[in-house]
Amino acid sequence: MRVLVLYQSRRGFTMRVAHAIRDEVRRRGHLATCTPFDGADAGTLAAADALIVGTWIEGMIVFRVRPADDAVRAVHRLPDLGRRPVAVFCTFDVSPFDAMDRFAGRLAARGGRVVAAGHFKRYHRRKERRLASVPAFVEHVLATFATAPAER
Ligand SMILES: Cc1cc2nc3c(=O)[nH]c(=O)nc-3n(C[C@H](O)[C@H](O)[C@H](O)COP(=O)(O)O)c2cc1C
Repeated sequence: MRVLVLYQSRRGFTMRVAHAIRDEVRRRGHLATCTPFDGADAGTLAAADALIVGTWIEGMIVFRVRPADDAVRAVHRLPDLGRRPVAVFCTFDVSPFDAMDRFAGRLAARGGRVVAAGHFKRYHRRKERRLASVPAFVEHVLATFATAPAER
């Protein structure tokens, strides 16, 4: 399976999570490419069997907590995803509330079939724990992709 990891990052943590996800997908025997939204060319997008799309969370902690505006705009510019399976993830500091549901809705509006979602909290007392849940997330996502293959 060819997996494309797309992300929007402002200060670098979402990028780190995206790279860790790409590495974990490769470790499990699949092809994986990782790029920020603005680096994604049409060929790479067209070649992907499935997408994993991530954003940071923007808001005022309890008010207007949402997927980053730049990420929403970037999703809007994507070509039609043609019913391909999509997993979404976000990074946050306090709580993402329902931001992932809304991000999933944006991807569904672009023609993706959103089949999995995950959250990664940026701050952890022990730095090495920040990416600790990536392998479990990837295991779940790949299993879900396997039961929801691309319809093309
Ligand atoms: C302007 C701004 C607003 C933010 N608002 C929230 C918020 O409402 N809730 C939250 O949990 N985290 C919030 N965060 C934290 C980021 O979502 C979090 O640090 C994220 O991991 C940053 O990802 P990045 O390093 O890829 O940019 C905010 C960060 C910034 C810069």
